[in-house]
Formats: sequence, C-alpha cells, structure tokens
Amino acid sequence: MPVVAHSDLYKFAEDVLTASGVPAGYVAQFASALIETNLRSVDSHGVQLLPHYVGQIERGEVALHATGKVLKESGACLVYDAEHGLGQVTAPICCDHAIRLAAATGVGIVTARECSHFGAAFLWARRISDAGYIGIALCDASMQVPPWQGREPRLGTNPISVSVPHPRHRGWLLDMATTTVAYAKLEQLKLKGETTVPSGWSQDREGVPTTDMATALKGLLMPLGGYKGSGLGMMVEILTGVLAGGPVFGTQVTGLRHQGRPMRVNHTFLAIDVERFMPLEQFQERMEWLIEEVKSAAPAKGYSEVLVAGEPEWRAEEHRKENGIPIADGVWQSLEDLARRLNVALPAA
Ligand SMILES: NC(=O)c1ccc[n+]([C@@H]2O[C@H](COP(=O)([O-])OP(=O)(O)OC[C@H]3O[C@@H](n4cnc5c(N)ncnc54)[C@H](O)[C@@H]3O)[C@@H](O)[C@H]2O)c1
Repeated sequence: MPVVAHSDLYKFAEDVLTASGVPAGYVAQFASALIETNLRSVDSHGVQLLPHYVGQIERGEVALHATGKVLKESGACLVYDAEHGLGQVTAPICCDHAIRLAAATGVGIVTARECSHFGAAFLWARRISDAGYIGIALCDASMQVPPWQGREPRLGTNPISVSVPHPRHRGWLLDMATTTVAYAKLEQLKLKGETTVPSGWSQDREGVPTTDMATALKGLLMPLGGYKGSGLGMMVEILTGVLAGGPVFGTQVTGLRHQGRPMRVNHTFLAIDVERFMPLEQFQERMEWLIEEVKSAAPAKGYSEVLVAGEPEWRAEEHRKENGIPIADGVWQSLEDLARRLNVALPAA
C-alpha cells in the first residue's frame, strides 16, 4: 500500500483542484480539508473523494465561484443560502457566522440550504471549537437509508459532529454518521478489494441484513443501533433540511455520486459560548475529569484500554504527520487515473 507524506498529498490535492478549475482563492482550504481528514485517519472522506468532487465540478453540479448569501438573521439565528457553492467554501463561512452570533448572544445557530458536500463533519464542529465555543455540525444526505422496519430508503446517512474547546486543540470530538457507518466506508472496503462487509452495516432491497459486498453496494445502509438510529437520522433531517427551509429528502436531495444536478443538501452549525455558563478554564477542567472518569473503566476482555470520541483520530494524526498517510491500492489507482487525465504529477509514494 503506498504511503505518502501529508505535505506531498496536500500538494497533489492542490494541483488536482487547480487543474479542475477551482478558483485559486479556494484551493488551499479545499485541499486542507481533505488532507486534515486523511491525517485523522477518516480515510473514507479524504482524497478517496477527490475523483467524485472533480466529477461534480466537471459536470457543472457545483457553482465554483459562489460563496452564498445570508437570507435572514434574527437574534442568535441565521438562514443561509449556499447557492450550490463548494461545501468546503460555504461551510466555514457559516461556522464563522455561528461563532459571531454566539459571541454576541451566547449561542449561534446557522442553517444553510442549497449546499454541496462538505466532507467530514468534524472539520466544521472543530472550526467552531478551535475558536473557543462548543461546536456542532450536522448535514443531511441523499436517501440511502431505510427507516427502521422499512425496506425503502427515506433518510440519508445524516452525520453529527460535536467538538469541545481544548487548550491544545485535542478535545473530545464525536464525528459519526447516523447509520452504522458512512457510505464511503463501504466504498473504502470495496477499494481495498474486500468481498464482504461487517454485519450490521447493510441490508438488501428486501430489508434482509447482508454481509456480501455486491449485495450491500446495491442495497441500503442500516440505521445506527436500529430504531434509535432512525430517530437520530430524522432528528438531523429536522434540524437541517426542515429548519433550513431547503429540500428535505426524496428526489430533491442528491449525493456526491449522483449525476446531473446540484446536491441541494442542508447544513446546520451551532456554536455555544461556554463562558456564559462558567469560565472556559473551569469547563475544560470538568471535561478532563469526565474523560478520565470514563477512561478509568476496566477494559473489556480483548481490549487494553477505553477510548473516548476523538482519541483514535488524534493518535492517528500524530502518527501520520510523522510517518505519512497510507493510501489503499484501489484509491491510489483512482488517483493515478485522475492525475493522468488532468496531467498532474502523482506524489511520491
Ligand atoms: N458529508 C456527508 O454527507 C457525510 C455523511 C455521512 C458521514 N460523513 C462522515 O463520515 C465519516 C465517518 O463516519 P462513520 O460514522 O462511518 O465513522 P465511525 O463509525 O468510524 O465513527 C467515528 C466516531 O467514533 C469514535 N470512535 C472510533 N473508535 C472508537 C473507540 N474505540 N472508542 C470510542 N470512540 C471511538 C471516533 O472518535 C469518531 O467520533 C465522518 O467524518 C462523518 O462526518 C459525512
């Protein structure tokens, strides 16, 4: 499996995005979003998605120069129209509005409609927590998930990310789909050449759980933890699509791999000013205590320790900064194809 230095992979992403026509002013933030995601080992949403983003750009499904506009602002609440701009461009603008509102009122909530794919949700919750606020990022996605006890898709993989401020930017960070895993994880296994998927990930079109890769790819993703995942997925849809006044589901919202029109997904960003409750330092001490308390549980048989959300990714980031980012053979092949087509040099592996 090729291993690439993160700086080389970043340069490659920059070159690909530039060759695809992404405006010069947005290339760096887009490339950073991808490489930061790979650094944290969320490989399903790093450069693996680059060919899909390029495809969308080439087919004209994103408005490359659009930054969106504020439709309405009232107290702590703001409604944004992303006008099909790149998700990696409009999401930080919305985060910064949420931070501005939270600084003024204690809390800021921004709903955005007519959005494109913003990648891994942690990027945006973490942008808010890096500014000293509790950050929450949500988005809806194309229908790939049946509601519990259903066999037809009605929900997306609708991720939730929550990130808390931390003095060394290494705080508790939850980032998860409301399905057992994100669709790109299935794709990731396929690109690794796997022919089976873990149980609990997918069901066939009759609603029968499957571990066969070919059936899973034609089937549907299962809600996280049964009916509770259905509830969480719907909660995200309410707080994004319904509240943003955008398209809610069905044929209006499409995915990164669907072709022919803008995705029209919805994003929601929430910033909470901890200082309105207690000094930030006190909150951080209480977080340290909570994390230590949780981690003090004796590990279950077969495990050596208890981890909390964000911990595996911080560790991966430290390791990958030093030792490079491993790229699955199938992903490397797709990047080679992209590089050849766009006449861009592949990074050294
Ligand atoms: N943009 C979109 O449309 C979209 C849609 C769905 C998912 N996503 C993204 O897909 C990515 C993957 O989501 P997923 O649900 O497949 O991820 P996942 O199943 O790997 O879960 C990741 C979460 O679990 C935590 N975790 C992992 N191992 C742990 C352990 N041993 N102990 C405690 N916590 C642990 C991680 O810190 C992280 O918060 C996320 O970045 C998500 O935002 C994006």
